Amino acid sequence: MDTNKFIDDTIALIKDKVRGKGIIALSGGVDSSVCTYLSYKAISDNLYPVFIDTGLMRIDEAEEIKKTFKDMNIRIIDAKDRFLSALKGVTDPEEKRKVIGALFIRIFEEVAEDIGADYLIQGTIYPDVIESHGGIKSHHNVGGMPLKYKFKEIIEPLKDLYKDEVRMVARALSLPEEICERMPYPGPGLAVRIVGEVTEEKLDVVKRANKIVEDELKEYKPWQAFAALIGKGTGVKGDERVYGWIISVRAVESRDGMTADYLKLPWDTLDTIRSRITGEIRNVSRVVYDVTPKPPATIEYE
Ligand code: XMP
Repeated sequence: MDTNKFIDDTIALIKDKVRGKGIIALSGGVDSSVCTYLSYKAISDNLYPVFIDTGLMRIDEAEEIKKTFKDMNIRIIDAKDRFLSALKGVTDPEEKRKVIGALFIRIFEEVAEDIGADYLIQGTIYPDVIESHGGIKSHHNVGGMPLKYKFKEIIEPLKDLYKDEVRMVARALSLPEEICERMPYPGPGLAVRIVGEVTEEKLDVVKRANKIVEDELKEYKPWQAFAALIGKGTGVKGDERVYGWIISVRAVESRDGMTADYLKLPWDTLDTIRSRITGEIRNVSRVVYDVTPKPPATIEYE
């Protein structure tokens, strides 16, 4: 790919398509950040980056985003309660993705109406499209989206790119290092790292476990490293029986997310992670390490 040509062509395309104001769905990951910078170059202050705080994101994500994009017309929308209540009772993984995709779009429509914007820009990349259309799983921004929406157009400037190409564009745009190298994070966030119904308690547990895994495995530079809450099991803490959560630790390497292999981590590192998770998070009784490549597993749990 000729990165500089891609950048010039994409800026011209966005300029040409967006008449007036546009909003961009910003999550803080490399795809939506690249898309935001390209769109800002194209339409400047007519661009409104919108970060929806679903409550399913990493710890402190909203604060970080506010800092990184402080020079733009960023809107942070607190939608934690709406997501939690929409997900109540939802246990089927595809249903979960559809509920999330639909709520994202409804909220973007509300914000766009308030701003007077007719266009939605999204950082969808090629693997999102392939996995959704191949029937593997409905990525929230493709197969999980409702078919009807109020926008004149949804523009997806990165939809032909793989992740490594997006990172090349990020570097060419001189984006901050943490963004260029950031691990992929799924749009539906921690909802797909909780097997079964999403509840406030499970969210709190999995959020803290994810932070521990990310911190402890940063030095290995994995494609992705995260924690998922996969069920309950009996344990004993002190002298007491606990029927606590089971956390699965997943760390994979991959080139494009389409296939992946697990990292052969040293036992010491796994020990540290296990000891921190069971020690720091009440009600976790068991930690396992997932040694399944993709295929047959996918990277995320749902
Ligand atoms: P899977 O789980 O299908 O994931 O092996 C492949 C890559 O895609 C990410 N992923 C998503 N990204 N919206 C996204 O933006 C989604 O709905 C979604 N689901 C999975 C996943 O984290 C991995 O990097």
